[in-house]
Amino acid sequence: MTPEHLVEILLDADSIRRRVVALGGEISSEFEGEDLCIMPVLDGGMIFAADLIREIKLPLTLLPIKASSYGTATTSSGTVSLPWGIPTAVQCKKILLVDDILDTGKTFEILNSELLSAGATSVHTCALLRKESSNHLKADYIGFDIPDQFVVGYGLDLAGKYRNLPCIGIPRNL
Ligand code: IMP
Ligand code: MG
Repeated sequence: MTPEHLVEILLDADSIRRRVVALGGEISSEFEGEDLCIMPVLDGGMIFAADLIREIKLPLTLLPIKASSYGTATTSSGTVSLPWGIPTAVQCKKILLVDDILDTGKTFEILNSELLSAGATSVHTCALLRKESSNHLKADYIGFDIPDQFVVGYGLDLAGKYRNLPCIGIPRNL
């Protein structure tokens, strides 16, 4: 699979790598001395989280969670399901949610309230991308603001495909 599947590349692998290094540095400073638990939001957040944790110079722990809102469509269904539920191990943890993209904000909103109800000490959020129409939505860490387009690559999928592209762009076959 090559970027021929894309009509346009928005972010190439080098730009992503540089931003991930910078985010890792910021997170390392902010959470120095803390017991940080990184929570990748699967499936889309797994590629970003895998690179990000190697740039965080702290003895962190890792606790993935699965969330789903798009199914096979290119717009959010508006409801977020948590097929694995919330792990009990979140109790008394300082959690940093790591997801690929902030779109409607529902995924972070629901996870934030569910994790706090389950006894997490605090919940911070990190998204690699934020869409223009969501720029009123806050996350503690944002990698890039991008136009309001459906994008794939670096963890983001279209009906399950293209997650393994090293860059991020607009798919040809929408
Ligand atoms: P939110 O809950 O609406 O903020 O959506 C977040 C989730 O929707 C992300 O974790 C992605 O799985 C998915 N998503 C939103 N926009 C896109 C996109 O442009 N491409 C692929 N997945 C997307
Ligand atoms: Mg997702």
